[in-house]
Amino acid sequence: MTTLKAVRGTRDLLPPETALWNRIEATARRVFARYNFGEIRTPVFEDTSLFARGVGEETDIVSKEMYSWEDRARAQSEKSQSLTLRPENTAGVVRAYIEHKLGETGQLQKLYYIGPQFRRERPQKGRYRQFSQIGAEVIGPPSAGSESPLRDAEVLEMLATLLDELGITGWQLHINSVGSSADRARYNDTLRAALVPLAHKMCADCQRRAVTNPLRVLDCKVPEDQPIIETLPKIADALDEDSKSHFAAVCAALDAASVLYTRNPRLVRGLDYYTRTTFEFTHGGLGAQNALLGGGRYDGLSEGIGGPKAPGIGFAMGEDRLVLTLQALNQGAAPPQVDAYIAPLGESLNPAALALARELRRAGLSVELGDGSFRLKKSFDAADKAARRIVILGEDELASGILTVKDFSTGIQSKVPRAELAAHLAQPAA
Ligand code: HAM
Repeated sequence: MTTLKAVRGTRDLLPPETALWNRIEATARRVFARYNFGEIRTPVFEDTSLFARGVGEETDIVSKEMYSWEDRARAQSEKSQSLTLRPENTAGVVRAYIEHKLGETGQLQKLYYIGPQFRRERPQKGRYRQFSQIGAEVIGPPSAGSESPLRDAEVLEMLATLLDELGITGWQLHINSVGSSADRARYNDTLRAALVPLAHKMCADCQRRAVTNPLRVLDCKVPEDQPIIETLPKIADALDEDSKSHFAAVCAALDAASVLYTRNPRLVRGLDYYTRTTFEFTHGGLGAQNALLGGGRYDGLSEGIGGPKAPGIGFAMGEDRLVLTLQALNQGAAPPQVDAYIAPLGESLNPAALALARELRRAGLSVELGDGSFRLKKSFDAADKAARRIVILGEDELASGILTVKDFSTGIQSKVPRAELAAHLAQPAA
């Protein structure tokens, strides 16, 4: 029989690496709380049309990468429905915002999420078919200030703080403005026209994009296409006055907060809902898939999927890529060590060892429980790998209530009364 393996593009995450994932998530939750964000949990699958309408039919994500299926009706009262594993979570969050009438509170909604996303991409380092995003969205009616450039700058400043607190040094922030939907539409037409005499000299993807979604040509990474792309009209020249002053205000607020950034006029991003500010944080340690995170403003998304006017801005970080970056920076998780390893001397002492482990664990200590069938040398070897100290529990120790404890970092062996054992083990290793 062939052995079954995790599906291509998916992975198992194992200890000790999962400790690093947990540390990243705990840091993100802590930072989000300081900025007054609350957590939202939306379903992992949604109606396919949410992504078609929200993210855009012509995007790579919707046209090529979605895991969709026809969900058959189970009863006469049900209709069959096309469903899709979420490839991203902004559309789902905005759907929830509309469904729960969050706009009627009149307040800005500041929501974060952590969870799996699914895209049928070609797997490689940093690119998986199931990956995890840590994201956040700020969305609300214009009266709540949702259109203000201050919101854009605050989100970017929060990201700079979060990356710093995660220990990710050497990141780069790239920002751009893709203008209002009208600016984008106008620029798309300008680009389409400019590409007519050029597209046939470009890669196959660009030839297709030149017709379907000319903006995406700017994202092309094929080296031979770069000189042609450099000659194309710039989106900055297509922006109306409001979009220009919005972008200038974002930059001014970032300058005031000393957040470093680079203006990148080619940063258009791969999802259709963006308006005005777009951004990416990159890291050199990641190789080809160098985007740690991406995001931007989406002032028309809510209306595009049938909701009220609700401008917003948000981002999603690739958690898999945060892990890779921290590992490259040698900030990966070391195997954790428990406070104590209990070694019962003989199988008859196993029940007493369980009682002692329970006592210590209830006192808040982390404890690994050995087995009385192990020889002493085997217990010591296992304890040395897993724990800071070993506690020997033999007949004498049990009868006298005086335990033998060895500290691996100092090599010192001591006799400790059972009543003092928890306090002794709680002391940091020398
Ligand atoms: P995105 O740029 O498609 O934006 O994805 C955001 C981040 O998710 C990327 O920068 C990358 O770190 C990670 N990512 C994307 N695809 C993969 C993959 N196949 N494997 C591993 N990591 C991946 C969005 O998803 C938008 N919803 C972000 C947003 C929120 N915009 C506004 N609000």
